[in-house]
Amino acid sequence: MYTSNKRFITFEGIDGCGKTTQARMLYDKLVADGQEVEFVREPGGTSISETIRHILLDNNRRELAERTESLLMTASRAQLTKEIIIPGLDSGHWIIADRYADSTLAYQGGGRKINLEWLIRLNEFATYQLEPAVTFLIDIKAEEGLRRRQSKNDRIEDEGLEFQRLVRQGFLKIAERFSARIIVLNGQRSIKELHNQVLKELSKRAIL
Ligand code: ADP
Ligand code: TYD
Repeated sequence: MYTSNKRFITFEGIDGCGKTTQARMLYDKLVADGQEVEFVREPGGTSISETIRHILLDNNRRELAERTESLLMTASRAQLTKEIIIPGLDSGHWIIADRYADSTLAYQGGGRKINLEWLIRLNEFATYQLEPAVTFLIDIKAEEGLRRRQSKNDRIEDEGLEFQRLVRQGFLKIAERFSARIIVLNGQRSIKELHNQVLKELSKRAIL
């Protein structure tokens, strides 16, 4: 049985879609409103999870198997959930996450073609069956994501355009499956328009 928390909001999408921008804007708005807010990113967010992130994104570790990748992504998540997210929510803080469990379904499921039902079970274990109240999926074409990216490619970004296309399809598929939780936003809209949409959707659900 999953539990969900109204103060737990996640942002998802392919690399370069604009999710960090939107997650930061929501974080800033909540802080300006005087709320206690924690910002987390995945993979990473704790000392152990950042060490795991280093292995996951290292360009020199090409031999990393898909199943190992899935286990490390979810191991990083379990540590972040236990160490930061659950205690934060228990203290009444907001948690704004730049990626969470849906990234595993889209990248390792859609991109690497690992069986989705296995990954859903793995996520169930790693998240302590905690779900975000709302997930914003910022949807853009793979080409646009590539254009927007400025940093040097990590191991996963190096997979190229076709991989990003599969990941995007993976995200859209799970958005259909979990339509009560995942809100798809058109990432082609302006940064400001998207932020306003985020706020509107949250107030529609009586979260803000
Ligand atoms: P992500 O975290 O999804 O990789 P970022 O938020 O870091 O993406 O954004 C990647 C780049 O695209 C940044 O330069 C950012 O300013 C720009 N960007 C973000 N949102 C938009 C948008 N809606 N329209 C145009 N450019 C955007
Ligand atoms: P990061 O530099 O944080 O990318 P972004 O700014 O786009 O979030 O790198 C994280 C990479 O890890 C990104 O390519 C997505 C990938 N990833 C997975 O493959 N599975 C997962 O479960 C998560 C959380 C991330």
